[in-house]
Amino acid sequence: MKKILVTGALGQIGSELIAKLRGVYGTDNVIATDIKREKQYWVTQSGPHESLDVTNAQAMFDIAKKYEVDTIMHLAALLSATAEEKPLLAWNLNMGGLINALEVARELQCQFFTPSSIGAFGPTTPKDNTPQVTIQRPTTMYGVNKVSGELLCDYYYLKFGVDTRGVRFPGLISYVAPPGGGTTDYAVEIYYEAIQTGRYTSYISQGTYMDMMYMPDALDAIIKLMEADSGKLVHRNAYNVTKISAQPEDFAAAIKTHMPNFKLDYNIDPVRQAIADSWPNSIDPSAAKEEWGFAAAYDLPKLTADMLEKLQKKLRPNAI
Ligand code: SER
Repeated sequence: MKKILVTGALGQIGSELIAKLRGVYGTDNVIATDIKREKQYWVTQSGPHESLDVTNAQAMFDIAKKYEVDTIMHLAALLSATAEEKPLLAWNLNMGGLINALEVARELQCQFFTPSSIGAFGPTTPKDNTPQVTIQRPTTMYGVNKVSGELLCDYYYLKFGVDTRGVRFPGLISYVAPPGGGTTDYAVEIYYEAIQTGRYTSYISQGTYMDMMYMPDALDAIIKLMEADSGKLVHRNAYNVTKISAQPEDFAAAIKTHMPNFKLDYNIDPVRQAIADSWPNSIDPSAAKEEWGFAAAYDLPKLTADMLEKLQKKLRPNAI
């Protein structure tokens, strides 16, 4: 991995992955791309960047060729709740972008990464400690995209020898760029609201467990998987990764250890609640550990302490 093209570079993962990759591989070896064109969006990205609509296959190929990349990290996608609102757009963007990126990887012989998700599971999947290989019959458009994406990545590996790799991310919690349109977003919002107002109204109900992970662990997973010995990867597309299985009240309890007056209440969004109910309570990440040695570091107390400290500095710098 020497020269890396990243799509969706201004999204929740991309905003932090770019900086991390540039630290590891060198600024000029990481090409950040996103559909956003306006200059102000790029101020945080100190290095090569291009505007790119991932549904434009030729434009993606031209950028990859121009920079002679040997790795593609394809992040651009609509998340679960937005995909449910706009299923046709989600299919066109999530699947159209993916097949374009895989085609570039095939033509230019690039290594390839794209994230799958806990959304690739559905209501008939075993709910607790969900195995790496199990029933995948999701009932959301996002889930349909993710399962199709996993299969497509396997196909490009088996048929064309493209070195495709992926993880099934749980909800990712971070303080740099907000997620948008996901079902697990509450677990980010709760920290922002704790700092800003001291209370949070959750759109996900009490007692709803979902898997979560802190962004530093997610970045570590991507780099570790891409650096792993190809011969050791049995499952490839895509590995269960997680650290925390939690319900909204668990986040509230963790926040209360730092802010005793924090208040949580509920106003359920039926669309996102139905999506959450169709996903596992907890997934089994042992294949990632066995095949490429990944173990996430941040549990809920450690994540909470770090999130609150970082957000305090970001949102209320004069209050410290
Ligand atoms: N965080 C994503 C979502 O909620 C799941 O992959 O859509």
